[in-house]
Amino acid sequence: MSILVTGGAGFIGSHTCIDLLESNYEIIVLDNFSNSSPEALDRVRTLSNRNFKIYDVDLLDRENVDQVFKENDIEAVIHFAGLKAVGESVQIPLHYYHNNITGTVILTHIMQKYGVYNLVFSSSATVYGIPDTVPITEDMPLSATNPYGRTKLMIEQILSDLYVSNNKWSIALLRYFNPIGAHESGLIGEDPNGIPNNLMPYITQVAVGKLNEVNVFGSDYSTPDGTGVRDYIHVVDLARGHLKALEKVKSSSGIEAYNLGTGKGYSVLEVIHAFENASGQKISYKIVERRAGDITECYADPTKAERELGWKAEKGIEEMCRDSWNWQSKNPEGYKTESKFFLSR
Ligand code: NAD
Ligand code: UFG
Repeated sequence: MSILVTGGAGFIGSHTCIDLLESNYEIIVLDNFSNSSPEALDRVRTLSNRNFKIYDVDLLDRENVDQVFKENDIEAVIHFAGLKAVGESVQIPLHYYHNNITGTVILTHIMQKYGVYNLVFSSSATVYGIPDTVPITEDMPLSATNPYGRTKLMIEQILSDLYVSNNKWSIALLRYFNPIGAHESGLIGEDPNGIPNNLMPYITQVAVGKLNEVNVFGSDYSTPDGTGVRDYIHVVDLARGHLKALEKVKSSSGIEAYNLGTGKGYSVLEVIHAFENASGQKISYKIVERRAGDITECYADPTKAERELGWKAEKGIEEMCRDSWNWQSKNPEGYKTESKFFLSR
């Protein structure tokens, strides 16, 4: 029996594949490489010393997705595949709705056809919209402020409807906070296309000299130093959360949402300073206007995941910064960097 990992070549997916392989799961990766590189999966094979099938398939391609289920004995799906850039989703909303929502509808339709009812879905803390209070618990009101967020919210609703229609379904909605860091080998990590939207890849690209300085979006928030506060979580901790969720969905039915965060918030300036300490690099920055749509503060109450999944984040901000730097400094051009150089050392 295998675990199908959609979007397995991406940032979070590739780290989760390593954990699955190390835990002796058979995996199958489905990805259209629209925001990732096959090189990431080559490195997953190198790191885990395991082989697995890769399907270069788009989730919107119903026939080929069906073929993946026909050819394999799949017991559960971890569904990462989706587009995730908030700003881009405002520019091309239909593309986001089609890719993320239609993609999930096609996937779950085919899962149902083949009697595969175990699903772990990549949701996001964005489904809490502008939270009234922090820390955020799973039962707080849900809303969305942009098309990307609406795709996550709508998919959560669609999956709830699916469970109501057939209670054989067993679904974990994992609401990630802000994933950063990289595998400690420095072989896999986050490789954004073009200029990064997110804070950590922006900082690491300043550190390697690809960008001049970090623009700190606003210093007049009602936080201790005036800059925005987020719950950064190490991607390796996050990956581990998927294995816990997988065990849970395989052993029961139902639909449950879980916050995957550390429960601790850091401001933009705190992250910049933690990165300087971990890397020994000076990070230039300037304060600029707030970014439209940003919220003041967002951090998780992760106790439900600890209680029900037995999962808790273990890595702190120092390790997150150290591993982000390790990845970026070894791979200044991301997956385009020749890997033989450090593989042979
Ligand atoms: P990513 O872009 O690195 O990975 C997503 C993968 O899905 C990519 O490899 C991409 O090629 C693939 N993909 C996209 N559309 C596809 C399609 N139609 N068919 C097949 N493959 C497709 O992103 P990530 O950071 O690893 O995020 C994984 C998931 O987690 C996404 O659903 C994202 O929305 C969600 N999420 C990410 C964050 C974050 O900050 N990284 C936060 C919350 C939620
Ligand atoms: N920031 C800067 N400068 C930058 C980039 C970000 O100051 O160049 C600040 C932001 O204003 C925010 C913090 O750094 O205060 C974090 O910003 P990110 O863009 O890294 O992350 P967000 O919290 O805005 O968004 C992330 C994901 C979204 C997801 C959201 C909630 O990118 O997909 O978390 O889970 F919806």
